[in-house]
Amino acid sequence: MAEIYRASTTAPVNIAVIKYWGKRDPKLNLPTNSSLSVTLSQSDLRTHTTASCSPSYPASDSLLLNGSPQDVSGARTQACFRELRALRKQLEDADLAVPKLSAMPLKIVSENNFPTAAGLASSAAGFAALVRAIANLYELPASPTALSRIARQGSGSACRSLFGGYVGWEQGSAVDGSDSVAFQVAPANHWPSMRAIILVVSAAKKGVSSTTGMQATVATSSLFASRTSEIVPRRMAEMQKAIQEKDFETFGKVTMMDSNSFHATCLDTYPPIFYLNDVSRAAIKVVEEINASAGKIIAAYTFDAGPNAVIYYLEENEVQVAGLFKAMMGEKEGWKSERGEKVQGNEQAFQAV
Ligand code: ADP
Ligand code: DP6
Ligand code: CO
Repeated sequence: MAEIYRASTTAPVNIAVIKYWGKRDPKLNLPTNSSLSVTLSQSDLRTHTTASCSPSYPASDSLLLNGSPQDVSGARTQACFRELRALRKQLEDADLAVPKLSAMPLKIVSENNFPTAAGLASSAAGFAALVRAIANLYELPASPTALSRIARQGSGSACRSLFGGYVGWEQGSAVDGSDSVAFQVAPANHWPSMRAIILVVSAAKKGVSSTTGMQATVATSSLFASRTSEIVPRRMAEMQKAIQEKDFETFGKVTMMDSNSFHATCLDTYPPIFYLNDVSRAAIKVVEEINASAGKIIAAYTFDAGPNAVIYYLEENEVQVAGLFKAMMGEKEGWKSERGEKVQGNEQAFQAV
């Protein structure tokens, strides 16, 4: 029996407060704007991925996601495999005693414990886990920055899940994408009272994938140019300052305005893309009422490319936000968290399991 080499990891989702939407280079997955997110704890939403390789495996690489075989021939999965194999090859070439795993077929088995392709960042946790699991299997000494450059090619948002806490993704300017990487704005313990509740409005697969939707927006939206050239650069600076100063009012206001701006460009796409639904809009109203009765911003909604709401708030406002939200939305909708998720604290990201 030929030997099987194996490594596993779990990876967190991240939910952007300044949204990535648009590619300047679809092949390398380079964005038209920088973005910023919060990496959530893995207590509720996580991807678990095992990577293994063996000379005894069937010749082609494979990926099983939630029990279903996936096509791995796509350029983006291939780019991740190729880059990780090249790094392994360097180790093998430097020391002939290192087993030649880079030449063996890869078998990836992954499970998301939350809805896939529903606008809850499954591609972020998914590709971050895939890259980290293979890096562990290959025993690569690669930094989170180096791995973020690889994960970005699988799914843009995945690069930010390589770090914990408050994480930026610098759009970069190099044509080869070498400077389009994630960086940590602040560790989780800088502002540990941040919480996020997730309202699962629908677990259904979205009608328009993020990849397809953003390409249509770039091609047709007239609002898009001002978003990328003026609005987002200004908000990136405001958001980083708000995080440094732990200024929730600014953090919340910019988060909500950027979510609205992103969904406005979706509506401005031709044909229009509708990710929000009536329940999403009801959630926005509830947050507005919570803030109005508090007399200040204590809750901030944001929506990715799907109808599901993520509400950021501080732990001290747990009762007013999570309690009221639940009372007003009623029991009919699915709650991923009874209590808000914490921010992920492991700076090197991920647990090896
Ligand atoms: P989401 O809003 O969930 O990120 P996307 O449209 O961006 O939705 O991406 C969904 C796609 O990401 C899936 O169809 C699948 O191809 C990929 N994906 C999701 N989870 C994983 C995973 N655990 N491992 C590998 N790929 C994944
Ligand atoms: C709305 O990273 O899923 O969630 O790079 O094509 O895989 P691809 O897209 P993806 O897009 C995420 C879009 C977003 C905003 C964000 O996470 O920044
Ligand atoms: Co995605």
